[in-house]
Amino acid sequence: MESSSCSIPSKMKAWVYSQHGKPADVLKFESSRDVPRLKEDQVLIKVVAAGLNPVDFKRMLGVFPDSDSPLPSVPGYDVCGVVLKVGSQVRSLKEGDEVYGNINEKGLDHPKTSGTLAEFTVAEENLLALKPRNLGFVEAASIPLAIGTAYQGLEKTGLSSGQSILVLGGAGGVGTMVIQLAKHVFGASKVAATSSSAKLELLKSLGADLAIDYTKDNFEDLPEKFDVIYDTVGQSERAVKAIKEGGKVVTIEPVGELAEPAFRFILTSSGAMLEKLNPFLENGEVKPVIDPRGTFSFSQAPEAFSYLETGRVTGKIVIHPIP
Ligand SMILES: NC(=O)c1ccc[n+]([C@@H]2O[C@H](COP(=O)([O-])OP(=O)(O)OC[C@H]3O[C@@H](n4cnc5c(N)ncnc54)[C@H](OP(=O)(O)O)[C@@H]3O)[C@@H](O)[C@H]2O)c1
Repeated sequence: MESSSCSIPSKMKAWVYSQHGKPADVLKFESSRDVPRLKEDQVLIKVVAAGLNPVDFKRMLGVFPDSDSPLPSVPGYDVCGVVLKVGSQVRSLKEGDEVYGNINEKGLDHPKTSGTLAEFTVAEENLLALKPRNLGFVEAASIPLAIGTAYQGLEKTGLSSGQSILVLGGAGGVGTMVIQLAKHVFGASKVAATSSSAKLELLKSLGADLAIDYTKDNFEDLPEKFDVIYDTVGQSERAVKAIKEGGKVVTIEPVGELAEPAFRFILTSSGAMLEKLNPFLENGEVKPVIDPRGTFSFSQAPEAFSYLETGRVTGKIVIHPIP
């Protein structure tokens, strides 16, 4: 038996695509889409803010034909909102909880077709955590997929206290989190990161000791070598030239070249991981980074995607308010 104290509509507003293509061409507004059905281990969430990620438009373009879900689909992985209803097997969450998370456990393996770019979405309780107390809904919605990718990638490299790391793409959604986690959670002794000229100060403000302007310097030509390189750009061939003997290179770019000994990984979403990181968010050591023009209203979702597709976003983009 599911429990509910408030009335939940059967229809909702949502952004939907029914064929693959560029977001500007295929993303359509629907005013009367079915509210997703709740499974016993899931909660129904009133979406307050939805964070966007490159995987959203890559799926829309049809980049993952072998593992994607059938269309139509509502895009959106990241959510922050309020629990409206809980399934019968849900133990740790209750109606009224303010939660955040990435609703797709395996991001490329048959992700949900009822994404977060809608008034309501559903997610398994084990993918969610309580919203950090100090953060607003927009800030919290910007975090889950990026921080999870940053944390798991760093774990897989074995980065340990006192080691050095270079972050390729330090100003992006994932890179801004990698810099902060490497410094404040993993205890790296030296954090270097790459970006274009205008973003170097941001890298330093996040904790980078060395900010490398990729428009002026090739990081692999610098004399300094690193224990770990976290590649968010797809530059593993260059990265392997900049590691110390026995160093590690992790790349998160899901397609393209992969040079030995670099390895690739795909995030597994987890609420427990968010709970583990919540103290670092709540004490302000790790901060959400939202692009200066990064909050778009629900009706501006196509413009938000166009901006994200440029690959020049600083930190994150969030859709808010949701109707
Ligand atoms: N494997 C996984 O599980 C996983 C998870 C998350 C993301 N990803 C993938 O990882 C990639 C990054 O994701 P994201 O969310 O961080 O993307 P993003 O936020 O869109 O990245 C944008 C940033 O990339 C920087 N950038 C672009 N080219 C660069 C270059 N040559 N050198 C240094 N920085 C550069 C830009 O800075 P400038 O303007 O200064 O160039 C911009 O700030 C995407 O391909 C995404 O699909 C994979």
